[in-house]
Amino acid sequence: MKPQTHPKTYRVKSFGCQMNVYDGERMGEMLDEQGLAPAPDGEDADLVVLNTCHIREKAAEKIYSDIGRLTKGKTQTKAPMIAVAGCVAQAEGEEIMARAPAVSMVVGPQAYHRLPDMLDKAVQGERATDTDMPAIAKFGALPARKRRSPTAFLTVQEGCDKFCTYCVVPYTRGAEISRPFSDLIDEARKLIEAGAREITLLGQNVNAWGGEDTKGHSVGLAGLIHALAKLDGLERIRYTTSHPNDMDDALIAAHGEVEQLMPYLHLPVQSGNDRILKAMNRAHTAESYLRLLERFRGVRPDIALSGDFIVGFPGETEAEFEDTLSIVDEVRYAQAYSFKYSPRPGTPAATMDNQIAPEIMDERLQRLQARINRDQLAFNAATVGRTCDVLIERKGKLPGQWLGKSPWLQSVFFEGDFELGDLVTVDLVEGRGSSVRGVPVQPAKAQATA
Ligand code: SAH
Ligand code: SF4
Ligand code: F3S
Repeated sequence: MKPQTHPKTYRVKSFGCQMNVYDGERMGEMLDEQGLAPAPDGEDADLVVLNTCHIREKAAEKIYSDIGRLTKGKTQTKAPMIAVAGCVAQAEGEEIMARAPAVSMVVGPQAYHRLPDMLDKAVQGERATDTDMPAIAKFGALPARKRRSPTAFLTVQEGCDKFCTYCVVPYTRGAEISRPFSDLIDEARKLIEAGAREITLLGQNVNAWGGEDTKGHSVGLAGLIHALAKLDGLERIRYTTSHPNDMDDALIAAHGEVEQLMPYLHLPVQSGNDRILKAMNRAHTAESYLRLLERFRGVRPDIALSGDFIVGFPGETEAEFEDTLSIVDEVRYAQAYSFKYSPRPGTPAATMDNQIAPEIMDERLQRLQARINRDQLAFNAATVGRTCDVLIERKGKLPGQWLGKSPWLQSVFFEGDFELGDLVTVDLVEGRGSSVRGVPVQPAKAQATA
């Protein structure tokens, strides 16, 4: 490659899960430190970082079309320098370098703290790939947090040792690691100083987090949540994604003890059929999953439940798929994500017999999504009449309109004289599809002077 001028502006495009969003923010902070600035919306960036996801087929294919569009001037007037980061970079780094000569840098999810060095080399005309997995080293090498926003992500745990037979994450993100307790408290403090009122703790298996608190006691995620709840200015705590097998009594109990811990749980089940769960290597049954949810509802009856489902896992029969519909009927999720099974290279399920035909998968997905949507509408309708706090995250489409989240993670919109980051008490008055309309409750101050 020819030497290039040092980029002045950048844009990070993150795909996939929230952990990629977190990584994307941290890459941005590193580039800021290096003297680059985020490209304003609608303007060309000198450097584009594609922060990719490998979880399903389409996600990976999209990268090549994005690279093509960037180099052919379809996305920008001028072709930028391109870096590919994230899970596709980890899984297919060499292939990307060979297939896409326009890419200057390929960097894996555990190595992106080295992006500044790679950028300096790229400017000299040297293409570089770094897909090492030094795990925790990355966090220590990143600059301090300074992103200003009322809601923030904080990665506490990375990687996965579960090896579900369909999934690439153990290969792209590596083994399970937990970041140290004191580092997390420090990072949370910085986020709060920068304006965060809600922090979502992230991990591929966030409830596998474990560490030692400041007194040297071993604690799990519940211990971390209790400590975070003591930080001044932090109004809300969430965590995602949990695995049924890593759930412990303390975390369930925390939902009845910690006021700041929001009544929401994302707990993927994948299938409602025990034979399929076994073939997926999930190590829980439909029944043990349901009992777990019952215990959460026991301490927090209003808890909003969410999950993930895969339809069309190899060998799934119609009757086995119907068990998935039944578990949905039983749980009544507030919302849920559902996917068609996608064979991933290198995973055991990809070479299993009886791969399911695409038409059958389509049909099953539609039936499942119809039930999930039915329950989401019912959940939203059932919250009408409640009064709750909504944290404003952004402006709505209409003038004077605001959008934020209820404690149950519903999108709530309402009007009034407010600012980003305000925690506004509203009456929920009407369910509108996947969101809910709210009406602010007259502030106590205004009532007193009236
Ligand atoms: N660690 C989390 C989720 C990781 S991936 C967990 O175990 O729950 C997010 C979701 O993508 C999974 O829950 C699963 O539903 C889906 N998924 C993962 N691999 C997939 C594949 N090969 N095909 C279709 N969906 C998949
Ligand atoms: Fe993938 Fe299973 Fe690990 Fe979740 S628990 S990341 S689905 S291997
Ligand atoms: Fe995708 Fe990697 Fe997240 S594969 S879902 S970006 S862990």
